[in-house]
Parts: sequence; C-alpha cells; structure tokens
Amino acid sequence: MAANRTLTIIKPDAFAGNKAGLILAHLEKGGFRLIASRVMKLTQEQAGEFYGVHKGRPFYGELVEFMTSGYCMPMVLERDNAVLTLRDAIGATDPAEAAAGTVRKLYAESKGKNAIHASDSDENAAREARFFFAETDLIR
Ligand code: CMP
Repeated sequence: MAANRTLTIIKPDAFAGNKAGLILAHLEKGGFRLIASRVMKLTQEQAGEFYGVHKGRPFYGELVEFMTSGYCMPMVLERDNAVLTLRDAIGATDPAEAAAGTVRKLYAESKGKNAIHASDSDENAAREARFFFAETDLIR
C-alpha cells in the first residue's frame, strides 16, 4: 500500500450511534480521501488477531469484547502524511485528554469506547489494510 495511505476503523460505539457519516465527513474536510470501506462485525478471532500486539495487557479482554460487540467500519484513507495526520485528527486515546476538534473529543465516550482506531506507523497501516482489504478493493 502507498505510504500516504492509512487504515482507520469506526468502532462499534460510533457506528451504532450513527456517527459513521459525521466522522467520515470530518475526515474528508481534513483532506482525506476514501479509498476503501466495508461494514462488518469482527469475530473474537479477528479482533484478537488485529489487536494481538496488546495481548497480555489488562484491557485486552475488554478491547476484544467491545470490538466484537457490534458492527464496525474499516476504511483506507489517503492524503499527504496520512498516518501522522490521521493520528492528530483522531486525538488522544482517552477522549478526556483529546484536543478540541478531534474525532475522539467530538464523538468518543471513554478510553475503551473511543469511537475510532488509526494505524500508528506506515508499516502497521500496510499490515492493517491487508487485514481487511484485498489489493483489488483499493481505489487505484
Ligand atoms: P486503539 O487506537 O484502537 O488501539 C488500542 C485500543 O486499546 C485503544 O484504541 C483503546 O480503545 C484500547 N485501550 C487502550 N488503553 C485502554 C484502557 N486502559 N482501557 C480500555 N481500553 C484501552
């Protein structure tokens, strides 16, 4: 995947709360272009694998349970400096600590139910995009 693309997931809290469109509009206004998207319910196995890096952390079980609790919306987004720009746009993990105007400040409930995930490096963006999408699913 090109280095100026990143992977994001609108999480079950935001999707169930009818916030998917608002969040995508917010990101499109921030210069991101939608390259691929799908709506799905993760299995325990998929959520466990996706968040495998957190296995053993105290919140891992809660995280897997939450991510499988409802539908979510993985998306590939594109813009200059996509990974870092999206991390800035979503804000801190805990919405109480997120800067004004960020997605989590606007739409997240708590550190666990925090509305959105975004890849934290180009390497993880490529890996996470492959987790949800085939190369042929991506706009070229
Ligand atoms: P995300 O960016 O998807 O990456 C890992 C997720 O783990 C993070 O967002 C949070 O939703 C979740 N997480 C991190 N720390 C905690 C915590 N202390 N309690 C519950 N969930 C957490």
